Amino acid sequence: MSKINGVLNYYTDLLNTELNNAITADSDKYKIIVEAMKYSCIDGGKRIRPALLLEFYKLFGGKSTDAIKFAVALEMIHSYSLVHDDLPCMDNDDFRRGKPSCHKAYGEDIAVLTGDALLTSAFEYASTAKDIEADRVVKAINILAQGAGINGMVGGQVLDILSIDLDNIEGLKRMYSLKTGALLKTAASIGCVLAGKDKQMEYCQRYAENIGLAFQIVDDILDVEGDEQQLGKPIGSDQKNQKITFVSAYGIEKAKEMVSMLTKNAKKCIDEIGGDGEILKEFADYLALRRF
Ligand code: IPE
Ligand code: IPE
Ligand code: MG
Ligand code: MG
Ligand code: MG
Repeated sequence: MSKINGVLNYYTDLLNTELNNAITADSDKYKIIVEAMKYSCIDGGKRIRPALLLEFYKLFGGKSTDAIKFAVALEMIHSYSLVHDDLPCMDNDDFRRGKPSCHKAYGEDIAVLTGDALLTSAFEYASTAKDIEADRVVKAINILAQGAGINGMVGGQVLDILSIDLDNIEGLKRMYSLKTGALLKTAASIGCVLAGKDKQMEYCQRYAENIGLAFQIVDDILDVEGDEQQLGKPIGSDQKNQKITFVSAYGIEKAKEMVSMLTKNAKKCIDEIGGDGEILKEFADYLALRRF
């Protein structure tokens, strides 16, 4: 795993700069929302969704720097999902990305609005990608909306919050594929679409589905055996909320086996795509072995 750390550090710096420039207000009177948005999306995130989007874009020969606008938009949406996920009415977690959660720092009212603003700003910003063919941009915006919405992340959060159909492995997988997998699949799909390679999307999506499922299982494992300091968020949140997870349902050993099987499957998908996909294979291993 030599190159992946450097690549992710690069994306972390890039996203911090881009997000800082993208979030602005016309009036100082409501600048608190800009502050809360920046507080919630700059610094601390691993930026794996932007990395995935831009690496697939690159793999398929994409050249425009405007693809970054979609990487920024996706990270805004992901950050909004975390702000709302931490609210007292959802997971009620007080720490995120190594500092007090948005509602702890700004209050619940502003935290709800911060999520709203990050979500809407994402679409505003993505729509300014001018150097990429308009039909590709429209398609990518549609994918972004689908991944974030009812049949994507939000749908998965509903299944999670209401514990719908989680007493069987298929139901649990469905919930994970939506609440977490959907935004990862969105990242891979947008990378392909912006590069004009829609036809090669099948294996990219299959790769993303595998790492998406593995990613959430690792998140559940770290919620049990992770280090709070390293993670930057509380451990024991799932137990506190009596959540059904892969770990609570099947045990930590089975969960780990599942992660390695999914990671293996993901890497096979990159072989099927061909080209120089070495980084995406390293990325799958990195996500499986991460401690934060
Ligand atoms: C946390 O996502 C929420 C899940 C979907 C499990 P990340 O682990 O990618 O969070 P950041 O962006 O690095 O903070
Ligand atoms: C988060 O799942 C999924 C989202 C869509 C935000 P979790 O609730 O397990 O994520 P963490 O552990 O709080 O980051
Ligand atoms: Mg949650
Ligand atoms: Mg949570
Ligand atoms: Mg979790």
